[in-house]
Amino acid sequence: MTEYTPEYEFKDRMLSLGLARVSEAAAIASAKLIGRGDEKAADQAAVDAMRTQLNLLDIAGVVVIGEGERDEAPMLYIGEEVGTGANDAPEVDIALDPLEGTTLTAKAMPNALAVISMGARGSMLHAPDVYMDKVAIGPGFAPGTVTLDMTPTQRVEALAKAKGCKPSDITVCMLERPRHNDMLMELRETGAAIRLITDGDVAAVIHCAEPETTGIDLYMGQGGAPEGVLAASALKCMGGQIQGRLLFRNDDERARGDKAGIDDFDRIYTRDDMVQGDVIFAATGVTDGSIVRGLRRVGGYVETETVLMRSRTGSLRRLIYRNPIKD
Ligand code: FBP
Repeated sequence: MTEYTPEYEFKDRMLSLGLARVSEAAAIASAKLIGRGDEKAADQAAVDAMRTQLNLLDIAGVVVIGEGERDEAPMLYIGEEVGTGANDAPEVDIALDPLEGTTLTAKAMPNALAVISMGARGSMLHAPDVYMDKVAIGPGFAPGTVTLDMTPTQRVEALAKAKGCKPSDITVCMLERPRHNDMLMELRETGAAIRLITDGDVAAVIHCAEPETTGIDLYMGQGGAPEGVLAASALKCMGGQIQGRLLFRNDDERARGDKAGIDDFDRIYTRDDMVQGDVIFAATGVTDGSIVRGLRRVGGYVETETVLMRSRTGSLRRLIYRNPIKD
């Protein structure tokens, strides 16, 4: 991994604002496509804008979590080199999702985000584009309070015990999917409240880090593995725990795992296995959410809210940005 020297620290601090610009640009680009029923167009607009801004940053960056394999994604594909690559530019790895929640955006539903995370070269898991079984809780609990090896019931009971409350006081968030039906039925028996979401599990995991604001204590279920690494980056900054296990359903997915260099297909990854070094994380709201507000049109301006965090210091900034609407 690239060494975190004082010089790197300085560049890292300077770059954090640049990273906010990158997620802002992606969010703004999708503004006109909120609620227009066109997932692809919304995603493409965000990808184009994110890539343009990223290439202005003085970094020698490699996309490790991106839009897909090179043959599937013409831009921001896994392995794409981004940034100016100037002589003294820091070598960094980048995890990104220009539009996390394409369907949420197309349907103008809450919690769509433009998301990006950056760390020293070698700091992030190269997760293949497969599903990941995940469980996450917020900060302030002993390591291993809730684990993937526990049943859903055990997770709720363990968290309730650690919080000093009843299982019925816990709110679990999960994606509403047929594959989660058994888990949902089991969780109902615990008495916990369940917040079912249609999409957007990066936001859902982040919500666990601020339960007082969001009302969510625990996230569990199967979602995208790339989203798992992005969520782990956020929790690295905010505190909180996440565990993930990659799920390979067929030979094609196992081949993706091989290509990504995964050597143990059954491994449970902790937050710090997924994100081994310090990262900067930026998320800009596209549609309204509990963590950040969505895009607003104010007079002749479009306004965004971004949360910008550095794991090295635990700092969190909320940035409001206004940009004139050009057409
Ligand atoms: P997109 O923005 O790529 O559409 O992803 C949305 C999302 O809901 C993720 O947050 C989640 O990890 C994944 O899709 C779940 O996948 P699936 O829709 O196949 O269950």
